[in-house]
Amino acid sequence: MQLNDNLMFARTFLRSPKMLGSAIPSSRYLISHLLRHFDWQKAKTVVEYGPGVGTITRQMLRNMSSDAKLLAIESNQELAEHLKENIDDPRLHTRLTSAANVRKALNGMRIDAADYVISGIPFSTIPRKERLTILRNTWKSLRPGGVFLVYQFSGAVLPSLEEVFGPVHQEFELRNVLPARIFRCEKNGAK
Ligand SMILES: C[S@@+](CC[C@H](N)C(=O)[O-])C[C@H]1O[C@@H](n2cnc3c(N)ncnc32)[C@H](O)[C@@H]1O
Repeated sequence: MQLNDNLMFARTFLRSPKMLGSAIPSSRYLISHLLRHFDWQKAKTVVEYGPGVGTITRQMLRNMSSDAKLLAIESNQELAEHLKENIDDPRLHTRLTSAANVRKALNGMRIDAADYVISGIPFSTIPRKERLTILRNTWKSLRPGGVFLVYQFSGAVLPSLEEVFGPVHQEFELRNVLPARIFRCEKNGAK
């Protein structure tokens, strides 16, 4: 299964390197580092941008409660179909669209706001206007106190995150190809 996933991911990367941003899925070290940021009792609605072959998706589903929902937004058709075919879990709702459409996707599920949004999409290759649309719609999609968790291979997105969310907490995970930066943004106050 994992070999199949890795081959699928690498093949898709060769076709769309900018959209994927990495030739291999996240390492187990990066995944466990990211998941430490979740309080699973409070994680009733989780959104994932760019699930790829579902490396992080599967681990989140293992931790989420039976009444929780996971909305996975993937803009690559092959990867979205791969995810639908390979993860059979009623809590998972996969949508083939851009993260920019997160509010519409949540509305379609009759959900007002998410508790957590986690994102591995390569913000550094996304034009500024589209990047800010995604970030502003993410802010609007979170409940007050909700958390936006971003992992990236560069710090290029940081000024845009600060522009939309205010102060950003940063961490690093070196045990990944490439070493990753983790940004934790909280939705505090009105904007
Ligand atoms: C670096 S990969 C991360 C894959 C997986 N989450 C992991 O950690 O192994 C980035 C993913 O984001 C997807 N993606 C890129 N731009 C996107 C967008 N605007 N909306 C949704 N997904 C996007 C890509 O197709 C790819 O699956």
